[in-house]
Amino acid sequence: MIDLIFLIIRNRNIYVNILTHYQHGAIILSVIITNKSKGDLDMVKNEMTAQNLRSAFGGESQAYQRYKVWSQKAMKDGFPKVSLLFNAIAYAEEVHASNHFEAHENVSGDFLVASGAGFGLGSTSDNLVGAIAGEDFEIEQMYPTYSIVAKDQGEKDAVKSLHYALEAEKIHSKLYSEAKEAVDNGEDYDIEYVTICSVCGHTVVDGQPEKCPICGQPKEVFKRFDE
Ligand SMILES: [Fe+2]
Ligand SMILES: [Fe+2]
Repeated sequence: MIDLIFLIIRNRNIYVNILTHYQHGAIILSVIITNKSKGDLDMVKNEMTAQNLRSAFGGESQAYQRYKVWSQKAMKDGFPKVSLLFNAIAYAEEVHASNHFEAHENVSGDFLVASGAGFGLGSTSDNLVGAIAGEDFEIEQMYPTYSIVAKDQGEKDAVKSLHYALEAEKIHSKLYSEAKEAVDNGEDYDIEYVTICSVCGHTVVDGQPEKCPICGQPKEVFKRFDE
């Protein structure tokens, strides 16, 4: 039997990993001492996951800004409830961006961040097409792939942060699709208000759960948007 106890002791300069296991009736202790490199304190440990978190941070930050602009455009186009939807979902993307930033933890410094960015200020219907395409890319390709990498690399904070985003984007795509259908029929989206979980970005139209079904936090963490 191996892997009975696995301990990691951290001090300023080294990691001490103590592995205790039974072998042939005897208890064997293995001690592995690893030097920390500069800037390696409590950080995300694998560069590929770190890179994915930076990219996702960039993508979410830009989605936030894009939705704020498209929200103003929807208001000008005479669709105040679509404007509300863009504005509320912008906040959800802000939550995702900050979660990814925090999961990146103490990796500090300047990085060149590569992330997909949709551009174009069209009609509200066009903007909704852009929003749906962005959400669907995240749902179908980006987050599932980033999650596989993070799981494989044992990056628990990243796995959580990516999972929260993926679950919210599924809802965003659906809501934007409903809004587009209304707009294409010459109508505003038929909603009153939107609530967003400030912990995971879970998005609810015309309601607020007692407890967030994604992150489990109580209703108090939800932020309500009326415009
Ligand atoms: Fe989204
Ligand atoms: Fe939540």
